[in-house]
Amino acid sequence: MSARPITTVKTIVTGIEEAGADIKLFTLADPDRWELPPFKPGAHIDLHLPNGLVRTYSLCNEPADNTRYVIAVKREADGRGGSRALHDDVGVGDIIGVSLPRGGLAPDARIGRYMFVAGGIGVTPFLSVVRHLQRTAQAEFTLHLVAREEVPLAAHLGSLIEAGTVVVHRTSRAGRPDLAELVGDPDPETLVACCGPEGMTEDFERLTTAWPTANVHIERFVAPPPIIDPDAKPFTLSLARSGTEIQVRAGQTMLAALQEGGIDIATSCCGGICGACKVGWIEGRPVHRDRILSPYERERYLMVCVAGSDAERLVLDL
Ligand code: FES
Repeated sequence: MSARPITTVKTIVTGIEEAGADIKLFTLADPDRWELPPFKPGAHIDLHLPNGLVRTYSLCNEPADNTRYVIAVKREADGRGGSRALHDDVGVGDIIGVSLPRGGLAPDARIGRYMFVAGGIGVTPFLSVVRHLQRTAQAEFTLHLVAREEVPLAAHLGSLIEAGTVVVHRTSRAGRPDLAELVGDPDPETLVACCGPEGMTEDFERLTTAWPTANVHIERFVAPPPIIDPDAKPFTLSLARSGTEIQVRAGQTMLAALQEGGIDIATSCCGGICGACKVGWIEGRPVHRDRILSPYERERYLMVCVAGSDAERLVLDL
């Protein structure tokens, strides 16, 4: 049984560029050079790698150019294997399936200023955003890029650094910037966002607790450890479209129960940070444990890799 086919778009690797410090830029295009599905600035795609791994990467090119998807990948020797597979095994001409783009920055007329903080390769989700904001001039923006010494993707940021809209903080020379000072006081017309190593995103989260939730955006590299609820009770998943009922055992994830029931669900991080496994819910009381959905989105969606249920029955839009 497959209630929810995993949709992938076939792409071909048309270019691989060395971009310094163990970083490669991969350009993916439609094999017949048709336009690819459109995306918002800061959107992500999942790559279905030839070795079976599924990994999520930010799109770095401008959304106005959807004849290609460009991703920047840093080779993490001790990572989970996705970056090694891309760096070591993927070449120009290879075919790679990718998901439809998701996430990114929706236009918001209330926001007049954007302030981004990136740690190292955490700059990648902001590349398409700052290019888009520079071209459309719809709002002021500053990207603070914190790097030990070498600036990741420096060649792609040159004009923005010169213009002062990308400010580089080299920690080997000047120490870490004062994050509290960069974040400043809550402002409903400003959106603040951060992507970087765990310590940085945790500090950023702490410093923005007084901000309106909709004005704060945090992207994480690594999923937090799974939350084990010792009081978790079994519950029933009711799949509205197929009429199927699936039992979730105490302590079992919804994802595992769905997979056991033969339901295909796209996954990447399996820790509530990437958005790949988002499913609509219709009835019940979900316990959201993801780090990605807004309060508004939680009224309609959940992440099956981490969510639980506070009621005996939860109806999903599957
Ligand atoms: S697989 Fe990443 S949020 Fe569920």
